[in-house]
Amino acid sequence: MTDDVLIERPDAHPGVEVIRFNRPAKKNAITSAMYRKMAAALVAASTDPEVKAVAFLGTEGCFSAGNDMADFIAVAMGGAMGRDVIEFLRALATIDKPVVSGVDGLAIGVGTTIHLHCDLTVASARSVFRTPFVDLALVPEAASSLLAPRVMGHQRAFALLAMGDAFTAEDALSAGLIRKIVEPEAVEGETLALASKLAAKPPAALAIARRLLRGDRGDVIARIDEEAVHFANQLKSAEARAAFEAFMRR
Ligand code: COA
Repeated sequence: MTDDVLIERPDAHPGVEVIRFNRPAKKNAITSAMYRKMAAALVAASTDPEVKAVAFLGTEGCFSAGNDMADFIAVAMGGAMGRDVIEFLRALATIDKPVVSGVDGLAIGVGTTIHLHCDLTVASARSVFRTPFVDLALVPEAASSLLAPRVMGHQRAFALLAMGDAFTAEDALSAGLIRKIVEPEAVEGETLALASKLAAKPPAALAIARRLLRGDRGDVIARIDEEAVHFANQLKSAEARAAFEAFMRR
């Protein structure tokens, strides 16, 4: 199994499971193997009574540069679109336990949209959230086309997801994508402290509160699937091939 993503249970934070991107040489770009490992961890965590909260973390200066471009290119060249990313997104959208995240630096593509599924996110001031979907001839994913307008309104969601504007941590805070801005060296500690606080709460009450707040997950899953159809078609388009070739030549 890949070590590019690590699943940890820190002794100092009982009840917390950490999913940590650990591929800094590639800016924590996410491969199929990483999606597969994360999906399995989320599915297992959802029924494991030892796990009371999940925390996503990256590495210093980088949360994630999004989906691995090599995997996109493989599909663009005629390969089949793997199911791993969909299985991961479904597991993320349906887990019935609190999920937090901590961002320091780059958060691109799914590295941004993942936080729409998180309940509390902290980020350093140097963080940048960006989804260049349309510039890559792709479309929003992870149900972001549904969730982002709900969280931040149409104009900001459009700027983020269709224009591809880079959001600073301040932009993300005012848009409601994140909860708090902290110093880079405090990101991990604050994220785990939030997860620990959640892990210590009465789990049944917290689960009900979260379910009520997050609303119907059926809509979210349906949107993940709808976006995925467009995404897969666009990946095979001439305009996407041109965008990927430009990335490879840069
Ligand atoms: N997939 C695969 N590899 C990636 C990657 C991605 N999404 N993002 C970065 N990398 C790799 C680079 O290819 C490079 O590998 P190399 O050293 O073997 O050449 C390494 O990570 C470092 O990236 P580099 O581009 O040199 O760093 P940078 O600081 O100049 O720029 C980014 C960082 C993230 C801004 C830039 O790499 C980028 O735009 N990546 C693509 C992000 C993206 O569009 N993701 C998909 C969203 S849908």
